[in-house]
Amino acid sequence: QENPLILGIESSCDETGVGLVRGTELLTNTVSSSMEEHVRFGGVIPEIASRAHLDAFVPTLQQALSDAGVTLEDVDAIAVTSGPGLAGALMVGVSAAKALALATGKPLYAINHLVAHVGVGLLDESIAAMTQGGQLPENLGALLVSGGHTEILRVRSIASDVELLGATIDDAAGEAFDKVARLLGLNYPGGPAIDKLAREGNAKAIRFPRGLTMPKYMGTAEAPGPHRYDFSFSGLKTAVARCVEGYEARGEEVPFADVAASFQEAVLDVITAKAVLACKEQGITTLLLGGGVAANSRLRELAHQRCLAAGITLLVPKFSLCTDNGAMVAALGAQLVMNGVAPSDLAFAPDSSMP
Ligand code: KG4
Ligand code: ZN
Repeated sequence: QENPLILGIESSCDETGVGLVRGTELLTNTVSSSMEEHVRFGGVIPEIASRAHLDAFVPTLQQALSDAGVTLEDVDAIAVTSGPGLAGALMVGVSAAKALALATGKPLYAINHLVAHVGVGLLDESIAAMTQGGQLPENLGALLVSGGHTEILRVRSIASDVELLGATIDDAAGEAFDKVARLLGLNYPGGPAIDKLAREGNAKAIRFPRGLTMPKYMGTAEAPGPHRYDFSFSGLKTAVARCVEGYEARGEEVPFADVAASFQEAVLDVITAKAVLACKEQGITTLLLGGGVAANSRLRELAHQRCLAAGITLLVPKFSLCTDNGAMVAALGAQLVMNGVAPSDLAFAPDSSMP
């Protein structure tokens, strides 16, 4: 089917997202976040997030339909995030989507949240202008960085062939930002706060460890080691804690801005170096950036520099499409419909640890 109208539903973390997409055209992207309710806990509380999805779902759906000027009857198919994510949170979106599918008789597509972060590139105007429009480039890779995931993907076909090249073995990058922000007395979510504070600091002041890097091999095609494209940030988090404790034990003032800048540089140096290494070695010529950490100003700068030097085209969707939302789910649903993929059996269960 050409240009199907797809309703996309996202509820894997703290964002209740409902998006409407026609083919690769974004009609509306309505998001309600429960982030404010989690701030005082310093992290997303699953039970609170689930309840918030239940409260927000119907109003968010109604808003999206009215903004797009369509009704449920007009929709050709419904797409919903079925994993990975918080189990209880996923269940709210999946239950709602199943109920809508049953009531309307529309086909339902279970969507992998991570693949949707890549598919959203199809909706971005600046990316469409750089590519063929309506199509993702060939030899595409993706660097997904958020509070829940840090992964390098190779995308041969967005509808049927996405391969995981590397991922974090402990904390996600955004999680590391959030935990270190807490150590530095900054509010949750910590990413934006560190990004801001780091601009006043010296990124070379403290040399923090670069997890799972092999300086000998980096940038060369020699001897692939274990975890070549994987990440680890828990050692870095500990190093920052020891560093801050050290200043305090010596009775010195903690140079917070320098610590923030040096920590941020350690995370982003590894992320961008490994993404570019994977691209070079795997014949990937275009890299798409996604996830909430893609908002980071230094990440954008480093990724641009290193991709430019390596001859890789960098695609960065606008921020509202990088963070969790329903339009990305609808965009991938539309690709599945247009590629003739069969809808999901309505009995499917959400999978919180979906690969
Ligand atoms: O994609 P997202 O909204 O939700 C998921 O985690 O799936 O990403 C949120 C994460 C948080 O960890 C937040 O601290 C981080 O993205 N983040 C940032 C920035 N803005 C948000 N990290 C670094 N720099 C930023 N400017
Ligand atoms: Zn996400």
